[in-house]
Amino acid sequence: MIRSSERISSIPFSSIREIFEEANKIEKSGIEITHMEIGRPDFDTPQHIKDAAIAALQQGHVHYTSNSGTIEFREAIAEKLKRDNGITVNPADEIVVTVGCKEAIFNLIFAFVNPGDEVIIPDPSWLEYQYIVKLAGGVPVAVPILEENNFILNPYDVEKNITNRTKLLLINSPHNPTGAVLPKETVSELAKLAIKHDLLVVSDEIYEKIIYDQEKHISIATMPGMFERTVTVNGFAKAYAMDGWRLGYAAGPAELVKPILKVHQYNTSSATSFAQFGGAEAYRGPQSFVEEMVESFDERRRFLVQSLSQMPGVTCVEPKGAFYVFPSFKETGIPSNELAGILLREALIACVPGSAFGEYGEGYIRMAYSTSLEKIEEAMTRMYPVMQNLMQRSTLSK
Ligand SMILES: Cc1ncc(COP(=O)(O)O)c(C=O)c1O
Repeated sequence: MIRSSERISSIPFSSIREIFEEANKIEKSGIEITHMEIGRPDFDTPQHIKDAAIAALQQGHVHYTSNSGTIEFREAIAEKLKRDNGITVNPADEIVVTVGCKEAIFNLIFAFVNPGDEVIIPDPSWLEYQYIVKLAGGVPVAVPILEENNFILNPYDVEKNITNRTKLLLINSPHNPTGAVLPKETVSELAKLAIKHDLLVVSDEIYEKIIYDQEKHISIATMPGMFERTVTVNGFAKAYAMDGWRLGYAAGPAELVKPILKVHQYNTSSATSFAQFGGAEAYRGPQSFVEEMVESFDERRRFLVQSLSQMPGVTCVEPKGAFYVFPSFKETGIPSNELAGILLREALIACVPGSAFGEYGEGYIRMAYSTSLEKIEEAMTRMYPVMQNLMQRSTLSK
């Protein structure tokens, strides 16, 4: 029998996909489900971005590009990093364009993590981080982020987990799945820790533009002494509704970008040629689309937080960024994967059990509000009696 490698057999399939498939089965029987499990905007890519990619195709940009990405696109990224984030990079050798932000993270981990090296990852977090680290032979070290702290990573908890094997600290703000945004003081404390313990920092900033209530996104690379030890990764999936375009990048000092480029060369060679023209237009063209999308997300966020907070058995921290809420169902005493099943079958809402994001996600559910307000309203109306029922049953059994 031909078996897959031990490396790959130790890694599960994504549980988000499992829920998506179960929801699809229910839908095939003619019942409509509200999809709150998949993390992508429900908006179309703006027309001017599509036009730029179409024009590129028609002009014959159909071949491999430079491994690093076209120089025009890298220049657009460098301009954006300067303008929005205050990060100065040389487009010649301090940016590598990748197939999605995910490829940037994958390449980075493979470029820097030796077997046994420890990587600090907030828990809960986007599930891919820990599996990519494991695939590379590294050891993910979970640092809990807690509801009572509004899911803000606590630098003190990070420091407690640093050992002489710690190589890398991974941060993500705004954060998936909690929507937490790291305040400037926390970013500054984390930067001091990274310098003190000589850590490489990966800052996943893919949700930076989806931010509410006048919160400010701070790039850790701009903190004193941090540029030389930080790789900033980002992409176009969330802010410009370009998830299917598969476009992202890693940016940082040339010494850190070079090994990432090497992995990228053996991985995908280059991102899709004409998609890169769309990406350049996304950064150089009008930004009104992003503002309108964020306004719409904000309206849904407010409605959801309010509805969930009024539901029996549920508490909900108000997220400050991204498009997820991460309510607690701990009061029900039901494990989160069971609860996600109940919500799917009884309230017809597909969402992700918090346990999929790490041990400390247990007791929570991630709901993406990248679906229309109208659908969210209907979903909440169906969910209320389900929760009422669950809480009555749990009181009776006590
Ligand atoms: C935190 C985080 N980083 C990276 C990604 C992947 O982005 P991309 O689609 O550009 O690969 C996601 C997608 O859900 C995400 O949530």
